Amino acid sequence: MEVVITLSPQHAAEVAADSICRLLEDDPRSVLGLATGSSPLALYRALIARHRDGQVSFAQARAFTLDEYVGLPPGHAESYREVIRRELEDHVDFPAGAVTGPDGHAGDLSRAGRDYEEAIVSAGGVDLQVLGIGTDGHIAFNEPGSSLNSLTRIKALTRQTRSDNARFFGGNLEEVPRLCLTQGLGTIRRARHLVLIATGAAKAPAVAAMVEGPLGAACPASVLQLHPHVTVLLDGPAASGLQHRDYYETAWAAKPAWQGV
Ligand code: GLP
Repeated sequence: MEVVITLSPQHAAEVAADSICRLLEDDPRSVLGLATGSSPLALYRALIARHRDGQVSFAQARAFTLDEYVGLPPGHAESYREVIRRELEDHVDFPAGAVTGPDGHAGDLSRAGRDYEEAIVSAGGVDLQVLGIGTDGHIAFNEPGSSLNSLTRIKALTRQTRSDNARFFGGNLEEVPRLCLTQGLGTIRRARHLVLIATGAAKAPAVAAMVEGPLGAACPASVLQLHPHVTVLLDGPAASGLQHRDYYETAWAAKPAWQGV
């Protein structure tokens, strides 16, 4: 993993935006993987600003979102499909239908999971997947105990995740759905470049377990250790649990600036 300890959450967002803009410049038809949660919001704002400045276009791109709650009414403001629409899609030039998410309203959720896998494969796979990490080490909604090879499927949320996400539901834990449809760890591992953003001290234990802890289902994000191209963008507080922080800082400083992440 390439661990980059950035100066601030905004700096982390700009480094991630650089990577996405470079990808779309090289191949405007690239396939992006989009994440929800608060971690990527500064990235999306940076992409919107660059799009308005004419620096990046999504006109030929496609995107797949990571996960979706099950049990929210259609169009609910906190459904992940709505969040992506509001935070990014409505402000850039993705063509209609270019952004897709798992169908949390499907009558047959197992089938919806399989269909989603097929759609990603038919699109040629995800070129760059944006990720956040939960305080319990989940990525997408792959909670501890998830199979490291899992594919898109229905999953129950832990109480910790529901309580972390209650802030999006007026602080009311009971309003947070208990189930979701989520890309699996196997799905995420197929993406060609993974860019994970984590900021703030609350993420420090999960980040340390992901980067330096043993590989295992106790910290689902640790499966990223097996991936050949992962960029972990942190701020200082999120990096505070890392034992080898000095090494990561030296390695990043030694990298030629033109190379990017
Ligand atoms: C959510 C999402 C994840 C996200 C994580 C962290 O539950 N399913 O995709 O990365 O939890 O969220 P946040 O960035 O708000 O801390």
